[in-house]
Amino acid sequence: MSREKYIVGNWKMNHNTASIKEFFSTLTIKKDVKVHAWLAPQALHLSTLLNNIQSSDLPMQVGAQNICDQESGAFTGEIATAAVKDLGASFTLVGHSERRSIYQESDDTLNKKVHQALKNGLKVIFCVGETLEEREAGQTPDVVKIQLIEGLEGITKEQAQNIIVAYEPVWAIGTGKVATAEEADDVHQFIRSVAAKDLGFLAEDLIILYGGSVKPENAESLLSKPHIDGALVGGASLKGASYGELVQIAERSAYLQ
Ligand code: PGA
Repeated sequence: MSREKYIVGNWKMNHNTASIKEFFSTLTIKKDVKVHAWLAPQALHLSTLLNNIQSSDLPMQVGAQNICDQESGAFTGEIATAAVKDLGASFTLVGHSERRSIYQESDDTLNKKVHQALKNGLKVIFCVGETLEEREAGQTPDVVKIQLIEGLEGITKEQAQNIIVAYEPVWAIGTGKVATAEEADDVHQFIRSVAAKDLGFLAEDLIILYGGSVKPENAESLLSKPHIDGALVGGASLKGASYGELVQIAERSAYLQ
């Protein structure tokens, strides 16, 4: 079967109102684009983006980079999933390696976040990936498998329709080092087998994105691989022109398959 393509921009802690305006002034996306063009700004700018997209009638969706694992109440500084949904956002990232390593989010916490997001009607982009040390020790499959099994525990086959997995080798994030298309595709294929055997998902339908130093220059070879359904992009998603170019490349690669 042919799965649809996604280009998801993860803006991390970047951009302000002026630079967001600049982003949209340099972004061109065809109204009838088939690729899912999604952006995850800082939570403070979810509304800024939603307003821009609505006023320019762009076929895009907006989501959060992180949500709280609790529903509501006395959690100062946290972001409620219901509030993200209420604004009009449609997805959230969960388990980005920066959340795992800098903020020590455990598999258990991430699992709570996944359930919280799905309960509130948000799609989840669940991120997994190994460090350089783990890759060099040949542990990539073990690490990725544990992250998937623990983070997605209790997710039914039906709920899995709202889960996207992003494979982001930690050593490739923001470093300019990109996994070769073959290396990435192998891990994607492995993720699909874990999804089928260990999680009981309809693995053929599962969208699996690659992330880590994706840019217009290397996107085509990655996106033409059979198990790579799109990209989660940091640095190269910050400028409208290069984000738009990635969407065009994904659109072309969808027709090539
Ligand atoms: P990068 O970030 O494209 O800048 O490597 C990817 C990510 O962290 O999602």
